[in-house]
Amino acid sequence: MIVKSANINVMTAAARKAARGLLRDFGEVEQLQVSQKGPGDFVSAADHRVEKSLLAELKKGRPDYGFLFEESGPVPGADPHNLWVIDPLDGTTNFLHSIPHFAISIGLVRNGEPIAGVIYQPLTDEMFWGEKGNGAWVNDHRLRVSARRRLDDAVIATGIPHHGRPEPERFLGQLRKVMEVTSGIRRFGAAALDLAYVAAGRFEGFWEIGLKPWDIAAGMIIVREAGGYVSDFDGTQSPLNSGNLLAANDHLHGPLTALLKV
Ligand code: IPD
Ligand code: CA
Ligand code: CA
Repeated sequence: MIVKSANINVMTAAARKAARGLLRDFGEVEQLQVSQKGPGDFVSAADHRVEKSLLAELKKGRPDYGFLFEESGPVPGADPHNLWVIDPLDGTTNFLHSIPHFAISIGLVRNGEPIAGVIYQPLTDEMFWGEKGNGAWVNDHRLRVSARRRLDDAVIATGIPHHGRPEPERFLGQLRKVMEVTSGIRRFGAAALDLAYVAAGRFEGFWEIGLKPWDIAAGMIIVREAGGYVSDFDGTQSPLNSGNLLAANDHLHGPLTALLKV
């Protein structure tokens, strides 16, 4: 049975409202591709517009919670335990290039642990959400990680360290090991959606080096509530602290952990 808590209702309503502006802006970006200046400044303004809208809506619902925004940074709240961790636009490079794959990600972290998350992909109208003890869902359908047990059946998502990102050599070592034994690797360019897709059983796993809390806070709880496992590469730290994350279904998390040790 679906039990949508008050927090989930506040989060989904805020995401839907902010997404209306984001969709309008995506239409505009398509026009700007051919302009001389390009869409760069426009897209960073779009990021900020989403944050402004989320700040206003979430504050209305939960006046005391603090915020950690990707663009605006921390906004302290009176309540020291509850923190919204927000990526207003995950998949910025896709958005900038008019590639239709991006999302708004809102995580709720309580005393350092993600306890609720919403990842909204406006172009497909898929609202992925999950909450500790209440399961993971897309719109009104329950999510469950995939049941595939074999690496050679598995499709694995990743993020490729691009210009200025850390540890390209380590990534290439991991890629080599994973690509040789799996059925395919995908790099779609929005880490929050990579996690949502693991929860939905579309990918068997996802790993990336050097992620930020706003990329993963929401997705971590959604994957866990869908029955998947989320850890860093050696199981010693929370990916929220280390930035290194492996998420996978219950069968393949172990074998993938072994492969990623390079
Ligand atoms: C990025 C995307 C991308 C991942 C990068 C992130 P942004 O976030 O999630 O898939 O590979 O590490 O920084 O910049 O689009 O919000
Ligand atoms: Ca991001
Ligand atoms: Ca972003």
